[in-house]
Amino acid sequence: MPASIRMKDVLDLTELEAKAELENIALEMAKADIAYYQNDDPYLTDAAYDALKLRNEQIEARFPHLVRADSPSKKIGAPLQSDFKKIALKVPMLSLADIFSVEELKEFVSSVRRFLNTDENIDFTSEPKMDGLSFNARYEHGKLVSASTRGDGKTGEDITENIKTIERLPHLVTAPDFPDMIELRGEVYMSKADFFALNELQISQNKKPFANPRNAAAGSLRQLDPNITKSRKLSLLVYTWGEVSNILWHSQAEFLQKVKEWGFPVNPYNKLCHSVDEIVQSFENLQQTRADLPYDIDGIVYKVNDLALQQRLGFLTRTPRWAIAHKFEAEKAVTKVLNIRVQVGRTGALTPVADLEPINVGGVMVSHATLHNEDEIKRKDIRIHDYVTIQRAGDVIPQVLGVVIEKRPADSKEFIFPTVCPECGAHAIREEDEAVRRCTGGLSCPAQAIERLKHFVSREAFNIEGLGAKIIEDFFKEKIISRPDDIFTLEERNGGDDLFSLVQGLHLEQREGWGEKSVQNLFKSIRDKRRISLPRFIYALGIRQVGIATALLIAKNYADFDLFANAMKAEDLSKLLSIDGIGEAMARDIIEFFKEPHNLQIISNLRKYVNIEPFVDTTDYHSKIAGKTLVFTGTLETLTRAEAKAKASAMGAKVAGSVSSQTDFVVVGKDAGSKAKKASELGIQTLTESEFLELVK
Ligand code: IVH
Repeated sequence: MPASIRMKDVLDLTELEAKAELENIALEMAKADIAYYQNDDPYLTDAAYDALKLRNEQIEARFPHLVRADSPSKKIGAPLQSDFKKIALKVPMLSLADIFSVEELKEFVSSVRRFLNTDENIDFTSEPKMDGLSFNARYEHGKLVSASTRGDGKTGEDITENIKTIERLPHLVTAPDFPDMIELRGEVYMSKADFFALNELQISQNKKPFANPRNAAAGSLRQLDPNITKSRKLSLLVYTWGEVSNILWHSQAEFLQKVKEWGFPVNPYNKLCHSVDEIVQSFENLQQTRADLPYDIDGIVYKVNDLALQQRLGFLTRTPRWAIAHKFEAEKAVTKVLNIRVQVGRTGALTPVADLEPINVGGVMVSHATLHNEDEIKRKDIRIHDYVTIQRAGDVIPQVLGVVIEKRPADSKEFIFPTVCPECGAHAIREEDEAVRRCTGGLSCPAQAIERLKHFVSREAFNIEGLGAKIIEDFFKEKIISRPDDIFTLEERNGGDDLFSLVQGLHLEQREGWGEKSVQNLFKSIRDKRRISLPRFIYALGIRQVGIATALLIAKNYADFDLFANAMKAEDLSKLLSIDGIGEAMARDIIEFFKEPHNLQIISNLRKYVNIEPFVDTTDYHSKIAGKTLVFTGTLETLTRAEAKAKASAMGAKVAGSVSSQTDFVVVGKDAGSKAKKASELGIQTLTESEFLELVK
């Protein structure tokens, strides 16, 4: 969150400050939207996101002339930029305005009455606001013909095959009163139990766990391969409709009743309320029940029940006047810090963790919280035995908000951050201008060694199936695998029927839960990895700051491992620093890595077993689009978006997501929207699909 959020009251802002802040918020929220909607990997908590949104609204309310064209208040969701086919939504999928208190709820009801100019009670439905992602499913003559995500509200992503894998969604409805054509809308979600089970599986397969059930649901539904969706447990509920051939109902409650009769799942906690008191009551009831629900909800949606009244109320720019979302506060609880300990990561970073007296926060048992770093503990003055307020804002890993000072016990103890590594005793050093302290033990530190092994076998590195996190830990403790190269001698070390082997040797098939078959499978998946691509090998080494993208850059520029390694050993940085995307700090870390004798030993051992394929860069740097920047928009007819992108980069072009003055060509497909418009505004050359194909032939 930008620092200014905490600083000034909106009323005290100068125009200049307001302008700057609106810009900051727009940029920050655009980034957060992409992380949330496109990558299913958010970095802002829901609470932080809502705070930004609210601040934006407040500033805009005071300075209406400063409202930006790209203001978050005008956007629904994130622009689409994925490889899914697109589906146009004739009736847009809108969003709802948020409120956060019972006062605002009462004000909402009054404003509806004022608008309709009536003193009478108005009926509202009260519906749990599922924390998942919304869908639109289209039925023609009773048959499910297509389904899409909300996308940007006007165009969604085609998820027809994926949604069909969700059990409770009827593919065919034969009820006589089912409209000829109807789009049903609702939420796809994942239950808390299925979410935890999925994360356990992810971890055992060395894959990244999901931050919360919403992301797990989004990540599972938005899969190009519907078989993956099928393997995940998703659920859905219906709560509204889009296009429809004939409306047979007069109210929201009637609609909900109808869809239920047609065999669609609807939320059993939906209520029809006849007065403000009943609405407030429904809010309080649901807030009570919330933690016991098997799924996450993040609030309640209230809708004017009568469709004729809804029609009279109509819409604001992007939200209806007849409905509102009452958001719950993030789930909070107070508990005791039993201990503070320090965890050591792959690159030696020391992270403080609070062990908490286990407590139920919104239906999830919490017993640890990260304290981020040394300064954070100081800033919040968190001491061992203190009572702290923790918050779970949609996410599973809770945050510590602060200490409940009145409850500080006499025996509370300040935590002295260690200057030696708690795992290996080596010095732990904090570089100037760094927030983290690091263990200097390298691979002689067991914690770092284990984390590096896990990284080595992970999906983007060697991707060795059958060597999950738990097995790596067990094998390390039992000294079966201490270093990456030990993985490749596992097979020859196993078995043997001489006396020594029988007594001392390794007999993996005798381990609990293992058998001959699983051992042979493991050996096979290890053997399969004796040839490895150069970028994977470089990434697997676990050099600090060298992620998969950097590894690819290095591979592209050096093509051969020895060329790279020799240059690094000779501290020859000329080529490395000329690579666009590699800076001084990263280069320093790479050189440091190659200075460490331990690392060189491991590399030389590994090379006895592993063949590193030289990197063949097949990019055509002489093609007509080499070095150019391309943007794709709209639906292509013969190519999928992924194919088109792959073709373009194979021809040496850069593919960008948005049109700017840096863009050379915009390839315009069917139903293209704002990007095509922007291209013509900026005078950028546009290409049809066949013109593009001609260029890359
Ligand atoms: S109605 C015009 N009903 O909340 C009204 N939305 O902030 C459209 N949501 O995009 C939405 N439960 O993803 C509606 N019972 C419910 C809902 C619900 C969850 C989500 C939905 C929507 C968002 C709006």
